[in-house]
Amino acid sequence: MKIGVVGLGYIGSVTAGVLAEAGNSVIGIEIDAKRLAGFKSGEPPIYEPGLKELIEKNHSRLEFSSDYSKLADADIVFLAVQTPTVNERIDLSYIFDAAEKANRQCKKAVLVIKSTVIPGTARELSKKISLPIVSNPEFTREGTAVEDTRKPDRVVIGAKDSNAADLVGKIWSFTGAPLLKTTNENAELIKYASNSFLATKISFINEIANLCESIPGADVEIVAKGMGYDKRIAPYFLKAGIGYGGSCFPKDTSAIASFAKELQSPLSIVESAIKVNSDRIERIVDILKTEIGKELKGKRIAVLGLAFKDDTDDIRGSQPIRLIERLLKESAAVNAYDPRVKIKIDGITRFENLEGCIKESDAVIVATEWGEFSNLKIMDKFVLDAKRILNPANFNNFRAIGLSWER
Ligand SMILES: NC(=O)c1ccc[n+]([C@@H]2O[C@H](COP(=O)([O-])OP(=O)(O)OC[C@H]3O[C@@H](n4cnc5c(N)ncnc54)[C@H](O)[C@@H]3O)[C@@H](O)[C@H]2O)c1
Repeated sequence: MKIGVVGLGYIGSVTAGVLAEAGNSVIGIEIDAKRLAGFKSGEPPIYEPGLKELIEKNHSRLEFSSDYSKLADADIVFLAVQTPTVNERIDLSYIFDAAEKANRQCKKAVLVIKSTVIPGTARELSKKISLPIVSNPEFTREGTAVEDTRKPDRVVIGAKDSNAADLVGKIWSFTGAPLLKTTNENAELIKYASNSFLATKISFINEIANLCESIPGADVEIVAKGMGYDKRIAPYFLKAGIGYGGSCFPKDTSAIASFAKELQSPLSIVESAIKVNSDRIERIVDILKTEIGKELKGKRIAVLGLAFKDDTDDIRGSQPIRLIERLLKESAAVNAYDPRVKIKIDGITRFENLEGCIKESDAVIVATEWGEFSNLKIMDKFVLDAKRILNPANFNNFRAIGLSWER
């Protein structure tokens, strides 16, 4: 089929690459000149494992452009633009803008909302758009997005028009994933309910981690392992740490919680998950103060990792960045190192290598689970493992999230 993908971010670029790999002819539309130039030159402007190779391998079926008129003959156009949360409310302007532009150019396409949008968005959009609208939310994780898109756990398709739903079902049939066809509203809500549930799982285990720290002999890693054997619970997203971040969980939990409140049907569990997550940073600063002294002013703190998780260069909603902001408020001197994130952050000292960053610091916090941190051995300063990836035996002065203070 002839496919258009509007918005070449983390989701759009991977969707475009995987659909080209499946044999479709794909046009990616991007308005950001720098991003577009990157894709055109074969150097993707974002880091996602396997993306560069995917685009290289399928370049004969992939075209990148800023020109919407190239969508004229498309069979399906995916909208994968950003849907940020601003003041706790979703900003749908990018979706509406992209949809209206595509609608003007396309002669026959089905318009697919891939972006995460609040329930009722497709219904609202259909009042302005003549093309059939399908809701097909995305569930991939950054860091494994290429593989997740090739082999999703499920494909959710919400639509009023059953022909349009069938066409979108067909395009994903190569994945072999179970297909759920439903209403647009259910599809939209499935995405939020899923993300909120996963965020709640993380906040839940983080609260258990807090409790473990006060129980001599307890360790949240073992508690989570014991829980995870239970098929009803499952081991995923039971990793205690610095709290969830990224471009999805923080904005999606906040958007759905305020949406639900407006409908007088508050999501108190999701609201609690948000609060627990937001308290995470304070907890880490408290541990640091307990161990190296209340006065952080002038103390050189190494924050290892800036990305919100490993295997990405994405710092949107990054808890390590929130931690840095909090440390700067205490007038600490922050040193930072990340193997992928190279952006400039005011008020901190960036290091290009791990050893230098540690050497020039009085205390170390591991804030992202990059593999290269896991073998650290540091005997001469305090180390706080906020991601539970270190071996306590490699340290003299050590604390870890969810590990009892008294062992
Ligand atoms: N990143 C993830 O892991 C993830 C996972 C699941 C769902 N989602 C959802 O997918 C959507 C996209 O997320 P993302 O992380 O890829 O966002 P992103 O910000 O990385 O990419 C969006 C891209 O769309 C472009 N754009 C905006 N308006 C445009 C327009 N009118 N025409 C052409 N291009 C336009 C932007 O320049 C940008 O490059 C969001 O709704 C997000 O919630 C993201």
